[in-house]
Amino acid sequence: MACGSSSFDPGFIRAVVDVVGRAHVLTDPDVVASYEIDWTGRFRGSTPAVVRPGSSEELAAVVALCRAGGVAVVPQGGNTGMVGGGVPLHGEVVVSLRRLTGVGPADVAAGQLTVQAGATLADVQVAARDAGWEYGVDLGGRDSATIGGNVATNAGGLRVLRYGDTRAQVLGAQAVLGTGDVVEHLGGLLKDNTGYPLHLLMCGSEGTLGFVTAVRLRLVAPAPQRVAAILGMKDAASALAAAQALRLGLPTLSAAELMLRAGVELVCAVTGAPPPLPSPHEAYLLVEASGPADPTLELTAAVAGLSGVEDAAVAVDPRRIAALFRYREGHTEAVNSLGAPPHKLDVTLPFGVLAEMVERLPSIVDAVVPGAAVWLFGHVGDGNVHVNVTGVAPDDERVDEAVFRAVAGVGGSISAEHGIGTAKRKWLELNRSPAELRAFAAIKRALDPDGIMNPHVLVPPA
Ligand code: FAD
Ligand code: MLT
Ligand code: ZN
Repeated sequence: MACGSSSFDPGFIRAVVDVVGRAHVLTDPDVVASYEIDWTGRFRGSTPAVVRPGSSEELAAVVALCRAGGVAVVPQGGNTGMVGGGVPLHGEVVVSLRRLTGVGPADVAAGQLTVQAGATLADVQVAARDAGWEYGVDLGGRDSATIGGNVATNAGGLRVLRYGDTRAQVLGAQAVLGTGDVVEHLGGLLKDNTGYPLHLLMCGSEGTLGFVTAVRLRLVAPAPQRVAAILGMKDAASALAAAQALRLGLPTLSAAELMLRAGVELVCAVTGAPPPLPSPHEAYLLVEASGPADPTLELTAAVAGLSGVEDAAVAVDPRRIAALFRYREGHTEAVNSLGAPPHKLDVTLPFGVLAEMVERLPSIVDAVVPGAAVWLFGHVGDGNVHVNVTGVAPDDERVDEAVFRAVAGVGGSISAEHGIGTAKRKWLELNRSPAELRAFAAIKRALDPDGIMNPHVLVPPA
């Protein structure tokens, strides 16, 4: 899906150069190319410039120039987003936060860490461990995704069932709003009822209200003893039932991930990894338990009580655990290697209809685009299924529409964790009432009065 940029005022570029320095305003088409296309390759735009501010003060000055010139901007972090929200599809200026990489200080006593927006998730995880704590969010894009992007998308990932999503970790933020105001609330008090939690409003706002420039994060107690198991299951329904049983029966459960036979075989073919178990299985459930004490016995006992388990392999060695997780995390790259970019439809389903919908989804897709391939996997401990569809042109949205309508029709969410971006904007009304959308628009008008912040993302046009 591609859109173009138009002619651009050179005076604006000169003024921005005066603020951030020539080296941090990129205009060479070869240099800006990687900022113009998203990770999946489905969304490509063009930009007159990529601006890389080095501080919140510089960023506020850039926002003031954008307001004065009526220049629309797209905030960008690691550019690992999945919904076309971080690339300039309508010729916007890209503002990259990747120079704001400061990590720390850690408040060891409180179990909190303050970081700048451009630090990667992996940087945050390392700093948390160095401080004797852990950070509760983990996801496959950890080495590139920034903490600002995680906040802006309210990223989920592998450990939501244990620690919650990114929003649950954010205790405060510094942000440059679309007004140009810098707001900051980074004190980290656990109880602080002093008005609207602006930091939480930034979570999931997808760059439509302002820029997240720093956050204060809650850390979690370390769970150094880990064990993982890959369960070969009779079918997807058994795997989903097992995940639900473990949520209740295994208090140390920290991940429960669904994979299907076709996806695992694809990952093996693409990565050269051996099959995870001696024989293939229709479905696989990857589970992890962790805590201060070794949870292996607890996990094996809980697994022994499950139905539909045909085979299992348990890993306690960290390298073997990582190898098991590669079958699951490898899905993203493997699906992306299939040629035309996938349609990535990340949904949550109510637990009561999860199994039925996982069964129905391939036929829902096949009914609109016969022959399209459906790859299902995801964080099923949260009811979150990643519906990836290949063999459909990037611009052909019939599959997206059919899946979103079916999901919303049973009370599910059209975006579990990736956000709305541009990809799902036209279907937001399936999940949000007219009154809610009016409130969204009013909030956006208040914090971004000129409509310069990611104007084609999330909030539907009036
Ligand atoms: P970008 O892609 O740069 O931007 C994403 C959105 O946030 C855009 O709308 C952008 O405008 C906005 N934005 C970025 N930075 C800021 C800022 N500082 N202030 C304001 N707005 C900003 N996501 C999950 O939730 N769970 C997963 O398990 C998961 N796994 C992934 C695995 C792989 C291999 C990959 C490639 C991606 C995965 N993702 C996952 C998606 C992605 O990593 C997340 O959406 C992540 O939070 C995006 O961070 P980013 O820095 O790359 O943001
Ligand atoms: C994942 O869980 O692997 C991510 O959300 C990325 C994807 O959907 O491919
Ligand atoms: Zn995911």
